Amino acid sequence: MTGIEVWTEKYRPEKLDEVINQRHVVERLKVWVKQGNVPNMLFAGSAGVGKTTIALCLARELYGENWRQNFQETNASDERGINVVRGRIKDFAKMKPLGADFKIIFLDESDSLTPEAQQALRRTIESFSGVCRFILSANYSSRIIEPIQSRCAVFRLRGMTEGDAKEYLNRIIKGEKLKADANALKAIYEISGGDLRKATNLLQASAALGKITPKSVYEVAAQANPSDVLEMINLALSRKFTDARKKLHDLLINQGLSGEDIIREMHRQVLNLKIPEKNKLNLVEKIGEFEFRLNQGGSEDIQIEALLTHFLKAKK
Ligand SMILES: Nc1ncnc2c1ncn2[C@@H]1O[C@H](COP(=O)(O)OP(=O)(O)OP(=O)(O)O)[C@@H](O)[C@H]1O
Ligand SMILES: [Mg+2]
Repeated sequence: MTGIEVWTEKYRPEKLDEVINQRHVVERLKVWVKQGNVPNMLFAGSAGVGKTTIALCLARELYGENWRQNFQETNASDERGINVVRGRIKDFAKMKPLGADFKIIFLDESDSLTPEAQQALRRTIESFSGVCRFILSANYSSRIIEPIQSRCAVFRLRGMTEGDAKEYLNRIIKGEKLKADANALKAIYEISGGDLRKATNLLQASAALGKITPKSVYEVAAQANPSDVLEMINLALSRKFTDARKKLHDLLINQGLSGEDIIREMHRQVLNLKIPEKNKLNLVEKIGEFEFRLNQGGSEDIQIEALLTHFLKAKK
């Protein structure tokens, strides 16, 4: 391999047992692998929780070294339309499976298909049922038509907990001999929202900066660092308006953050401030108002400065 190794591929599990979380899916699949047969399936779940990974592991375990000949990944949202998808499926299905009774077609983003296209897909699934199994991947199972769902074993993949994400990131940290502090991993988890692809890319980007700290993580994510925003809020609460304003300009100009990011982080922090409850509610309302103004095209520095003036009176 030339160039930079992409960690999302390098550390993608190859065996079902290496998959994190998703035990309810993995255990059933292992039984079917043993029996040498699998049904059509629907994997529903958010981005980066293992839909593609599990399908690839399944293919490896079912077919061994022939897996590439018997497994095809196709994106259902192909802009050229369902007919191209069906054509590709047909071409693939026509070739005999290698050392197996059936092949597997993995159809990514199935929920992007219109209901009409899904009807066509349903007929395709039926006409190839002798030689192919389909695994459909979707973010939302509710967007898959009932006739398809009823022909599939439906699996809902779970979101990743902070512990799951840390387990995965620690494999990479060990493999790459990196050093990362615990707060950095926490920051990665919070920014990624449990999407392990996003988490891995954040880890790789901050490692490229030479260190993995909360600061480097927020920097590569171009997201507001909570401790910077808290510092700005505390300056305002202590009525040091000029200093709060300086901090704001540092965030906007030197760190290149967007006003929306900063307001969003202020919103996250306000409920934890040590100020009277009724002032918190007042500030939540103000934050909503100023976020709206920003969305309407108000300038970032002027609007957030104006918002900060409401923090000056919030302590008592
Ligand atoms: N459950 C998991 N166990 C181990 N690694 C995982 C898991 N889920 C995701 N990953 C890692 O995150 C990356 C993306 O995973 P994957 O391609 O399976 O996501 P996906 O659910 O198919 O997402 P998308 O909806 O974006 O297609 C891979 O590098 C993979 O190693
Ligand atoms: Mg995928």
